[in-house]
Amino acid sequence: MGAPRDGGRTLPDKFAFHGRHQAGIVTPQQLFAGFVGFDVLAEDRNGLTELFRRLTERSRVLAAGVKPKDERVASEQPTPDSLTITLGVGASLFDDRFGLSGHKPRHLKAMPAFPDDRLEPARCHGDLSLQICAQHPDAIVHVLRDLARETDGLLRPRWRADGFLNPSRPSGSPRTFVGFKDGIVNPDTGSAREMDRLMWVTPPCGEPDWALGGSYQVLRLIRFHVEKWDKVPVARQEKIFGRRKASGAPLDGENETDPPNYRKDPHGRKIPLDAHIRLANPRTHKTDDSRFLRRSYNYDSGFDKRGRMDLGLVFCAYQQDPERQFATVQRRLEHEPLADFITPIGGGYFFVLPGVQDSDDWFGSRLLKKL
Ligand code: HEM
Repeated sequence: MGAPRDGGRTLPDKFAFHGRHQAGIVTPQQLFAGFVGFDVLAEDRNGLTELFRRLTERSRVLAAGVKPKDERVASEQPTPDSLTITLGVGASLFDDRFGLSGHKPRHLKAMPAFPDDRLEPARCHGDLSLQICAQHPDAIVHVLRDLARETDGLLRPRWRADGFLNPSRPSGSPRTFVGFKDGIVNPDTGSAREMDRLMWVTPPCGEPDWALGGSYQVLRLIRFHVEKWDKVPVARQEKIFGRRKASGAPLDGENETDPPNYRKDPHGRKIPLDAHIRLANPRTHKTDDSRFLRRSYNYDSGFDKRGRMDLGLVFCAYQQDPERQFATVQRRLEHEPLADFITPIGGGYFFVLPGVQDSDDWFGSRLLKKL
């Protein structure tokens, strides 16, 4: 695929489909993603079980590199493309249609509107969420077509957001369309201890047994007002984020990976107290457990009816508890200076199911078999 566009990371061709957790969460981020919110058309629990089984079967073979059906004529060579397919469930799946109401994950609810939001109902929520990630954009479309055909009559799409990562320029974390490097700071996905503390549903979480090994996904479609942003001098933009635009370094550091030292700067002379990174993660003992994993992508949908660029971020966050983590951070960011330049317009809260254990298992089996 030519020069790496992801800061030099090389991804394995395939990610294991079976495991305690689904792939596509702590596995390294691919270059392209499709996020889709669906409503379930199945009418009863048997229909829902059939839907989950079919989604599992197709995801299993596609992740193993088997070509989606519509693409077979183009080439018979398997092209795994580092594909991951990650399935989540929304709060609405636990209404009275399938008898699941007593089994909802504790913290699952419809995404609320936060004060700076302008949510468009047609771009929010859903009974299910699918995150499809791969190294080429056509792979996403083929997989989506394949899954849609195989689940015909059981699912109806509600919204879709396609995303991509920009190349890293000149090096390090890739930039979003606000021009700053993004994704620099995240919890350590290599540390099982940190992941169990911040990401996965574990026994101390007090969640239903079937949910162990799952994680909460928060999706937010956030539009950037680039025309307005581009009029802001770079020095002001840097204060809004708390980082240098060129290097990505915090304003008190040299390199993008330098940690900011807020204790040495209690009055915000170097990094303003209301800078995005300082509010998002004040790095205190008290705020440590509100950290979460960001795995976001850019989107670009052309122009709106008034001729303004319609682009921004498909913000995607994974965590153990969306209230303790995402919502707490979002409240700290309320009315931050960056809020004048962005508007959240869609998304949803979902619970990403535990992983499919082996070739006999299927998505949601522990939930549906229990009943
Ligand atoms: C379109 C909106 C947003 C933009 C353009 C944006 C941009 C950035 C940038 C450039 C950074 C610094 C680089 C990095 O550490 O990755 C950053 C960090 C961060 N952002 Fe955002 N962000 C946005 C929305 C959000 C939202 C909605 C949240 C959570 C509610 C959030 C949470 C964070 C966190 C936790 C960090 C890491 C801070 C640290 O640990 O130092 N961001 N963001």
